[in-house]
Amino acid sequence: MNQLLRKHSLEVEKILAKYPPDQKRAVVMPLLHLVQQEDGFISRERMQEIAEIAGITTTEVASVVGFYTLFHDAPGARIKIQVCTDVACDLRGAREYLNGLCSQLGINPGETTEDGLVSIEEVKCLAACDHAPMFQAHIGDALEYHENQTVERTLDWLKSMIASMKSPASAVEKKTTDDGGSHE
Ligand code: FES
Repeated sequence: MNQLLRKHSLEVEKILAKYPPDQKRAVVMPLLHLVQQEDGFISRERMQEIAEIAGITTTEVASVVGFYTLFHDAPGARIKIQVCTDVACDLRGAREYLNGLCSQLGINPGETTEDGLVSIEEVKCLAACDHAPMFQAHIGDALEYHENQTVERTLDWLKSMIASMKSPASAVEKKTTDDGGSHE
């Protein structure tokens, strides 16, 4: 049975009710958001279930997941950092920044630190081209943008995030920081 339908029948019905039956494929995005909010990532099994509901193929759902940097197809690290190295950012030193950051964390782009806390991924334009080097970070459901970065500034931010995650009373909440200009 379709577990997504079984576990979230009300939410799925609400989403389906927003679109005409001949445009059922439009439910893919809201369903992906629902799954990621619940599971933290979108497994192949959930993609199949979304495909079934939307009347499209699993490959089509997977291609949507692959296209948007907001969606993850694996559990990944607790802090997922995505650094833009597209042309405009590259011209402002994004690649050196990415390499410096990875080297400080002892990983390569696309990898996760041994403790499973931080992953770094290279992505294309995140619409902050004139404030590079920049990254977006996914922390649970929260999404943060950080612009005008240096390796040191990012490491300081990471240190405080990790400390707050380890603190028993802490909860990482959605926020936007202003470390040289930021947006959501
Ligand atoms: S090129 Fe990096 S944010 Fe646009």
